[in-house]
Amino acid sequence: MTQAAGSIAGRAYLVTGGASGIGEACAKALAAAGASVGIGDLDPEAAARVAREIAAANGRAVPLPFDVRDAAATAAAVETLEQAFGRIDGLVTAAGLSRPRPAESMDEATWDLVVDTNLKGMFLSCQAVGRRLLAGQGGAIVNIGSVNSLGGFAGRANYCSAKYGVDGLTSVLAIEWGRRGIRVNAVAPNGVDTPLVRKGIPPGFVSNVLENRTPLGRMGRPEEIAAVVFFLLSDAASYVTGATIPVDGGLTAGFYTNAQGADLASSSLLASGVYAEPT
Ligand SMILES: NC(=O)c1ccc[n+]([C@@H]2O[C@H](COP(=O)([O-])OP(=O)(O)OC[C@H]3O[C@@H](n4cnc5c(N)ncnc54)[C@H](O)[C@@H]3O)[C@@H](O)[C@H]2O)c1
Repeated sequence: MTQAAGSIAGRAYLVTGGASGIGEACAKALAAAGASVGIGDLDPEAAARVAREIAAANGRAVPLPFDVRDAAATAAAVETLEQAFGRIDGLVTAAGLSRPRPAESMDEATWDLVVDTNLKGMFLSCQAVGRRLLAGQGGAIVNIGSVNSLGGFAGRANYCSAKYGVDGLTSVLAIEWGRRGIRVNAVAPNGVDTPLVRKGIPPGFVSNVLENRTPLGRMGRPEEIAAVVFFLLSDAASYVTGATIPVDGGLTAGFYTNAQGADLASSSLLASGVYAEPT
């Protein structure tokens, strides 16, 4: 049977960080479209919960509790997934965390935790799944970067350095593996309403900064990131590799902020209502 261009039904994917937020939304979107999903996460209970919820909706999922910083555990999780589903077709790397500190007082352990999880862990997942895809029929990988892959953010020397690295890693893997049937892309979300953001960002920052500076005037929803991840995994994106796609409500389109008018031209545009936000 010929699959529709966007179809991923019958395939199997590992989603790291699949037990919460963006990863959970990706896992559920893939499962709802008929793919089998491994819920890779440090948190075993949360991974089991997401797998149960997918099963309750007639989807196929297995919880895979492991630490993305551990190469052997990552390889073992990939093997378990292949045994469970008989195949592997790709990967979403959404495991990540944020520990903001001023650069001058950032301790080494905090630097290491964020860089090891968000960058080294991502590399190890790509390597473990990439090896299996290279040995089989190829596939697709989507890395979760951030608008902090594209611009700085005070207090996040560790996080931004790792996220800029995600961009570089994605480019290199796309070049190395393109001719061997593996596409590798990244998405760069703006603030998305997830536990990571609710834990790490003061509520006033959401309304005063995040919403104010975003042309669409709000944070993203996990499902809106998952929709672009889904596209990149599917055959509809068969000629897309090495790309980092902003999914950011227009944040990186320019230097606009609603409250401050941002530049000379925008003062008159604000006055004439062009930039007006819904009230
Ligand atoms: N939420 C946002 O605003 C936002 C914006 C841009 C990028 N991102 C990125 O998206 C990704 C997911 O973030 P989220 O907001 O969904 O966070 P989240 O906290 O809701 O989920 C992250 C998941 O990763 C898991 N995890 C953490 N360390 C791990 C490890 N060592 N091994 C395995 N699993 C681990 C956690 O247990 C958790 O379930 C992160 O890379 C984050 O940097 C988030």
